[in-house]
Amino acid sequence: MLSLPKLQVTREHRAIAVLTSGGDAPGMNAAIRSVVRYGLSHGCQVYGVTKGYSGLLEGQIFPMELSSVANIIQRGGTILKTDRCEAFYRKSVRKEAANILRRKSINALVVIGGDGSFTGAHLMEKETRFPTIGIPGTIDNDIIGTEDTIGFDTAVNTAVEAIDKIRDTASSHDRLFLVEVMGRSSGFIAVHTGIGGGAETIIVPEEKESIQSICKQIERGVERGKTSSIIVVAEGKTEGRSTKLAHALEKKGYPPKVCILGHTQRGGDPSGHDRLLASVLGASAVAYLMNGKSNCMVGVQKNQVVRVPFNQVIGKKKTLDKDILALARVLAT
Ligand code: F6P
Repeated sequence: MLSLPKLQVTREHRAIAVLTSGGDAPGMNAAIRSVVRYGLSHGCQVYGVTKGYSGLLEGQIFPMELSSVANIIQRGGTILKTDRCEAFYRKSVRKEAANILRRKSINALVVIGGDGSFTGAHLMEKETRFPTIGIPGTIDNDIIGTEDTIGFDTAVNTAVEAIDKIRDTASSHDRLFLVEVMGRSSGFIAVHTGIGGGAETIIVPEEKESIQSICKQIERGVERGKTSSIIVVAEGKTEGRSTKLAHALEKKGYPPKVCILGHTQRGGDPSGHDRLLASVLGASAVAYLMNGKSNCMVGVQKNQVVRVPFNQVIGKKKTLDKDILALARVLAT
């Protein structure tokens, strides 16, 4: 069970804004709800910002009440909407954002998002001294400093459920399937989905896998009587990775069907796990701000909520546990 940080809640920040940024993730709404309700019940005013940093720059900021977040804990997506804001890479734009918040007498910002969103928050605080705090919300689970991110569990559940369905048709037709999951530069979704769905092979961006070795794994299965197989492929950086792999396999005599799960993994009702994680992290972010802590992310380490300075998080890559990947291979034999 996750435990909250033990903090002396002061009156450090009385007016807090919250936004979601980058790719949406199931559970973001639960995090917004927690920020709003924890903040209001501790005497803060809480403001919602629509459409991430882009909305902030347009002044799309509105006060939130307890009822603003009613009936959203179970909903995927983000009621605040989200965006990837190119303009926020510019220093002058970040300065303007801080001024917009200050003009509304807001004195801290909660950013729910991933690495790019935290970079913007960190730079804004460094350059303007406007306090910011991050809540890790991304299905990729690729943020260093936290073992878990909001949306990862739901995305894996969605992908595993899809694999269960694909396996039915794969075994009816004695077919090989390539199932592409999300994860541009990290294989967390692929590995967890592959193990959970009992995939025969898992291909991740972190490890080079030759076509020969993939064929060998298929052959081993065929030798012991397998008539169908599932290969989970993380999308990687280049588009159409699984389609290219499919052509290569076809040339080797193993023509597969390809199923790209894509954005289905980003939507849907958040799992119970993600709702709890988001609720605990949302409240903790506000508690840290009210304790005078900022320029950091709240995360989970060994089931405890922790605070990790942004500069130890951003631009760094969480490494995939090679033992888990090795386990996946053993279990698939
Ligand atoms: O970072 C989350 C993520 O879903 C990645 O897994 C994926 O590569 C990317 O976002 C897709 O982004 P977009 O919203 O631009 O399609």
